[in-house]
Amino acid sequence: MTWKDIYESKLVTAEEAIKAINNGDKVVTGMGCGEPFGIQRALIENYQQFENVEIVNMLTLGDSPWLRPEMKGHFILNCLFASHSNRKEISNGKCEFTTSHFYEIPDVIKNYICPRVSIVMVSPPDEHGYVSFGTTVDYTRGTTDYCEIVIAQVNKYVPRTFGNCIKHVRDFTYFVEIDEPLPEVKGIEISNTEMEIGKHCASLINDGDCLQLGIGGIPNAVCAQLWDKKDLGLHSELVGDGVVDLLEAGIINNKKKQTHIGRTVLGAAFGSSKLNDYINNNPSVELHPIDYVNNPAEIAKNNNVVSINSCLQVDLLGQVVSDTVGLNQFSAVGGQVDFVRGATMSKGGRSIIAMPSTAKKGLISRIVPLITEGSAVTTPRNDVNFVVTEFGIAQLKGKTLKERAKALIKIAHPTFRPHLILEYKKRFNEEPFTREELKVMLGEVKEHIFDNIRNHN
Ligand code: COA
Repeated sequence: MTWKDIYESKLVTAEEAIKAINNGDKVVTGMGCGEPFGIQRALIENYQQFENVEIVNMLTLGDSPWLRPEMKGHFILNCLFASHSNRKEISNGKCEFTTSHFYEIPDVIKNYICPRVSIVMVSPPDEHGYVSFGTTVDYTRGTTDYCEIVIAQVNKYVPRTFGNCIKHVRDFTYFVEIDEPLPEVKGIEISNTEMEIGKHCASLINDGDCLQLGIGGIPNAVCAQLWDKKDLGLHSELVGDGVVDLLEAGIINNKKKQTHIGRTVLGAAFGSSKLNDYINNNPSVELHPIDYVNNPAEIAKNNNVVSINSCLQVDLLGQVVSDTVGLNQFSAVGGQVDFVRGATMSKGGRSIIAMPSTAKKGLISRIVPLITEGSAVTTPRNDVNFVVTEFGIAQLKGKTLKERAKALIKIAHPTFRPHLILEYKKRFNEEPFTREELKVMLGEVKEHIFDNIRNHN
């Protein structure tokens, strides 16, 4: 049998493929830009055929139709990263959430959640009968190695990517051909605050460093500040469109890496067609499973790794909260701790946590005396080194409790510094700053108050 015969013998409709799913099954599906929406739609449309089927998905960029009231008793959603379409339901108990470092997720799914069925999205087969997992290799590819039933949506829009992300058609149970554009993460305009944060982060990045950047405004602002650097490397769990121009211009050329020299290493691509077109058939970009990409020991094989991640809150001890607001799950730890640790272990490496100094349109400070009750610490204080806001850089490793608190107060928004100073005095029974330092800091408070008045007039 040729590969074409094998492929054709497995080609079915989505309705036929989902008949392989039994009541009570656990079904793991691809995430992000690689979520197999075509097959998932068939499950939703035929929900009455199923009872208590658990859908395991890390992060959806779309809706979470599994949570509609009529799905009760038919589907349960278990996610590993909260998103806009399921955050509320995780908080009110209608959606399950499993917490794990990203590099451990393949093991957690395989050995603890134990799904029987895997549903993924792949590119059409090449001339040798190999399909590519395209934008999402992460935990997705691994599930096709051990699940009893493996169903793939074959979609011509899935880019053909290189690395450990191809599989022969013989290794799948069913193929369902549905072409549809991939979900996209569009670049948003970079704010002035993010631009300032980007400048401070860029000041910590040297020529030849190997970067981890996430997605969103801050990573894009960092990218915008890297045009005077050279020979940068990229080894990242996921990236967005922000890196494409730097890669095309050769600012990121991966020349100085110790592993995968000359190649970008990713676990997933979370961008628009700009990024997907760049990674399509591009041998200089490799996608690998996340237990490899995010393994701190693997990250640390490169020298001068700089990790840049964001957060929601930092307390005066340097404890970082990135994925919860009180008892509400906002996102997940993702690969934050994996890369903070990998960068710390890397020779010459640096980890950066970057965030705007305030949230809720400036009404609350992200630097706080105590983290909000109910919030979970995402990155422990012992792991954290550089914290960056639009007001500067606080370097925390090797600092005493008092020095940490003072460094963080200095990069808090001026409006909130007097309160933080009071809290410092209560905790340590001493003044944190000299009269001269206070004069400068309170001068900045006045400046901000005047700025605000001027902006309102
Ligand atoms: N208290 C209450 N609400 C807060 C808050 C705080 N301390 N800090 C932020 N918020 C609110 C914001 O106001 C915003 O609300 P809005 O949407 O109503 O305006 C919302 O929470 C999101 O904040 P924002 O800073 O805009 O989030 P973001 O989209 O930039 O994402 C993280 C930041 C930290 C949530 C995100 O980076 C994350 O999930 N990180 C953990 C995973 C990770 O680091 N992975 C590795 C890199 S991909």
